[in-house]
Amino acid sequence: MATNLDPARIRAAFPALDLGVAYFDGPGGSQVPSPVAEAVAGALTAGLSNRGTVTDAERRADEVVAGARAAVGDLLGADPRGVVFGRSMTQLTFDFARTLSRSWGPGDEVVVTRLDHDANIRPWVLAAERTGATVRWLDFDPETAELDDLETVLTTRTRLVAVTAASNLLGTRPDVRAIADSAHEVDALVYVDGVHLAPHAPVDVAALGADFLGCSPYKFFGPHLGVLAASPSLLERLTPDKLLPSTDAVPERFELGTLPYELLAGLTAAVDFIAGLASGLDKLDHRGPDDGTPAHPAPDRRTRVLESMAAVEEYEAGLFDRLLDGLGAIDGVTLHGRPARRTPTVLFSVAGHTGREVYEQLARVGVNAPASHFYAIEASRRAGLGDEGAVRAGIAPYTTAEDVDRLLRAVSQKLTPA
Ligand SMILES: Cc1ncc(COP(=O)(O)O)c(C=O)c1O
Repeated sequence: MATNLDPARIRAAFPALDLGVAYFDGPGGSQVPSPVAEAVAGALTAGLSNRGTVTDAERRADEVVAGARAAVGDLLGADPRGVVFGRSMTQLTFDFARTLSRSWGPGDEVVVTRLDHDANIRPWVLAAERTGATVRWLDFDPETAELDDLETVLTTRTRLVAVTAASNLLGTRPDVRAIADSAHEVDALVYVDGVHLAPHAPVDVAALGADFLGCSPYKFFGPHLGVLAASPSLLERLTPDKLLPSTDAVPERFELGTLPYELLAGLTAAVDFIAGLASGLDKLDHRGPDDGTPAHPAPDRRTRVLESMAAVEEYEAGLFDRLLDGLGAIDGVTLHGRPARRTPTVLFSVAGHTGREVYEQLARVGVNAPASHFYAIEASRRAGLGDEGAVRAGIAPYTTAEDVDRLLRAVSQKLTPA
């Protein structure tokens, strides 16, 4: 079955690509295809009120929310009844840290990793400080960017393990399932940062062993908001801060204030777009045999998401090899980390130039690849890059081989010493 990515077809959906820029800054936020923008505008102009059941406008808002929960369910293999929306993954994690740490006290322990984005570190560190719990740091090897063994920090007193499914700085994909299995043996909860994994690979919350998984739709073609998936029964056991008149139902009781309906409509459109990324799946919908038997039923959205994300992974891996080989062959370029399992994201430095200089030079030739610690500040320091970090380039489904070659040319011609 041909379920490859057709970059030309995909690129045609992104008006931003008409500007001729090569966007390697997807790990910071992807570009947005037209159907997502249209869905946002459509929701805003369709006649929209607060959620309710009396007027059409109320029902529309209700349907938008239900539709977005179902879409996230299909994207992450999650139960839609356990999908919580918020302003950002950072905000949701602070909210859940406040709620979960209610029952922590001296003697309790929480594990955070130095590989994580600060959004999955600081909320837990601050919550531990407030409650008297102890923070245990899981480190990583600065050469390989592989996480150390969880057993070195896990104890029977561990209440929660916070770990990333993929490092937004170094691309490492830790073995989350093994970490979760160990954590569950001591009855610890597992809070997984799925922000950098979700745009690059099929995700299944249960298969990962995550009790909570956060992600950010603006990293996978959607609008700027945050999503958290958990099992509804786990959410039922938690008591978040909330307003008196707001509903106590799950998942709504975790959602503070009015939801951004238009962004949720955009999120559903983003998941639909992802489900259509792999060419060939659409043909399955229609093509029946000529012998009069009925056509195959259309694969459901979850199936199409999984097929599409498998195709994304394969397509991006091909371009990433080209990028890594090319950068590795340029004199003066240092690649940071070499994790065995990784997303198509590379962090690199060029001898004799600050990251900022490389970033600015690339920008001058229409190649967007910023330099920073990208908020993975602990990881940047541990990797020996301090608070300056380095240049990050990430592949997206709209990246082409020409984009990669353009980046490589710009680095080798303009930046290496003559
Ligand atoms: C791995 C990772 N985790 C968390 C975040 C924070 O996400 P948000 O902007 O939704 O708070 C980011 C954002 O860059 C990220 O890359």
